[in-house]
Amino acid sequence: MIEPLLAALEASSAAQWLRGARWGYAAVNAAHIFGLALLIGAILPLDLRLLGFWKSVDRRALTRVLAPVAATGLALAIAAGFCLFAIRAREYAALDVFRIKLLLIVAGAGAAVLLHARAGWLLDRAEAAALRRHALISMVCWLGALICGRLIAFVT
Ligand code: HEM
Repeated sequence: MIEPLLAALEASSAAQWLRGARWGYAAVNAAHIFGLALLIGAILPLDLRLLGFWKSVDRRALTRVLAPVAATGLALAIAAGFCLFAIRAREYAALDVFRIKLLLIVAGAGAAVLLHARAGWLLDRAEAAALRRHALISMVCWLGALICGRLIAFVT
């Protein structure tokens, strides 16, 4: 059922252009990496703070800076990742490592949305134990997605 959709995506003019455009592909790939850098670079220190590191650093101030940076990085990674995906949609969609990566992204983003919905944008209403639990889940999801993303090149 999804096969014709993936084939249509591969046949789209944007995907055809990207397949042939060396510098276009390089630019989209660089945008993906830049998104990952923002996401991982922001989420990791925030999760470590939620786990209990750097207790002298104000949690609200850190969340105010790092949560929007991580969200921007994720949005960029998703937009550029979708373009990369369109180039060989059927091949990527069939890969276990790609499917696991998508599951981890959905789980990581879902956990973040739930936490902020329950505890507020600056996490004022959360208990320390809930924040520690969230930080562990978040690190597993995002580092797992990073590793799965890198592994794609080794299985194609
Ligand atoms: C829905 C969003 C995303 C999609 C559709 C997507 C898709 C892709 C695709 C198609 C590739 C190229 C694989 C290849 O041929 O080597 C790729 C590379 C990669 N992705 Fe994603 N990605 C997404 C989000 C993410 C996120 C959130 C992370 C990290 C947490 C991530 C980490 C990576 C890494 C590390 C690479 C390898 C980059 C390289 O070696 O050049 N991706 N992604």
